[in-house]
Amino acid sequence: MKYTEIEDLDTFTLREAVSTYGQEILPLWKKAVYTKPYKLENRRYIGCKAKLVDWIFDLIGKETQNVQTFCDIFAGTGSVSNRAVNLYNNVIINDFLYSNNVLYKAFFSTGDWNKEKILNLLDAFNDVDVNSIKDNYFSDNYGNKYFDMASAKLIGYIRDFIEDIKSTLTEKEYCILIASLIYSMDRIANTLGHFDAYIKKEIKPSKFIMRLVDAKSFEGVTIYQEDANKLAKKIHTDIVYMDPPYNSRQYSRFYHVYEVLVKWDKPKLKGVARKPAEENMSDYCRVKALSAFTDLVENIDARYIVVSYNNTYKSKSSSSENKIKLEQIENVLNRCGTTKVFTHKYQAFNAGKTEFDDHKEYLFITTVDNEKRSSSFSSILCR
Ligand SMILES: C[S@@+](CC[C@H](N)C(=O)[O-])C[C@H]1O[C@@H](n2cnc3c(N)ncnc32)[C@H](O)[C@@H]1O
Repeated sequence: MKYTEIEDLDTFTLREAVSTYGQEILPLWKKAVYTKPYKLENRRYIGCKAKLVDWIFDLIGKETQNVQTFCDIFAGTGSVSNRAVNLYNNVIINDFLYSNNVLYKAFFSTGDWNKEKILNLLDAFNDVDVNSIKDNYFSDNYGNKYFDMASAKLIGYIRDFIEDIKSTLTEKEYCILIASLIYSMDRIANTLGHFDAYIKKEIKPSKFIMRLVDAKSFEGVTIYQEDANKLAKKIHTDIVYMDPPYNSRQYSRFYHVYEVLVKWDKPKLKGVARKPAEENMSDYCRVKALSAFTDLVENIDARYIVVSYNNTYKSKSSSSENKIKLEQIENVLNRCGTTKVFTHKYQAFNAGKTEFDDHKEYLFITTVDNEKRSSSFSSILCR
């Protein structure tokens, strides 16, 4: 039986399915549940705020008024946007990574797509006999490293196939297929959740299964793939939510496999980690992080600025040391209005090197006072 035919089964509880169809439905029911679409938060991503979203929006709800527009300017997985789209009329979602941009289009953008057509393609991909597939760009570079060889071949084959049929797909369908590929890959990647390195042990072969993502569509969403500081000069929004990287770990280097997969121009890759040439290197991961943050706060046209921060700078590893200190965030924000600081004890997703005994998550909410902002920033410039 095909995925397409059992699709409705996952709306039944096990008991309902068995009482309607009898015991023989059990394996199919299991398959239907297994093939449920991936939710946006079902992805490993450093700094993902999925577990903090209730806390963040409880505070935002209490501290802000008459909000129509919201901007998630360093959106990452989009976990914060995913809540904002249900609360506000207009939501701007931005991140400079190619892979995040495709995911936002799959999960949020409007645009026609035919679910049956996509499910039929997934069925076809899941039916491919891996032994019949030739080596390809993906398996040559990542096979027996980030993925077992059979899965790497299949992933490369599927990615080529999607590109070959691009002209028969709408943009939404194209993005849904690539997003489904990324989420399905994350399930079996031989990593600690990012691609800075792979686990150097023999990889157990796993059955790579393409599973659909939970694609939705929201009228009021605008998606950008820009440097946050450049975008800030072009938009107006009631709330801007800022969750930049705070240490030297560049997201474009940690998620390079997805960047290569999405761009699919098959660049030459280097080193043991098989990374492409540098692109989208963030100032927030460099010594100039504080000046980048100051410039952002100075230039964004928003009534409220909400900033997430965590205190991993006490960590043992220097690459996870924060480039901007807590007091510096508060100082910059205080120049443009009244700021309240909230804290939450939280166990972050990390690769194990960092000590998180006293890990705290901070949320700054600043009510912007434009007069105060223009006078304090111009006085800084004059000094
Ligand atoms: C801490 S993560 C955001 C996590 C996000 N809040 C979530 O819940 O998944 C920071 C994000 O900022 C992006 N980023 C870093 N520097 C940027 C820049 N200058 N402009 C735009 N995006 C940037 C990274 O690609 C990364 O996805």
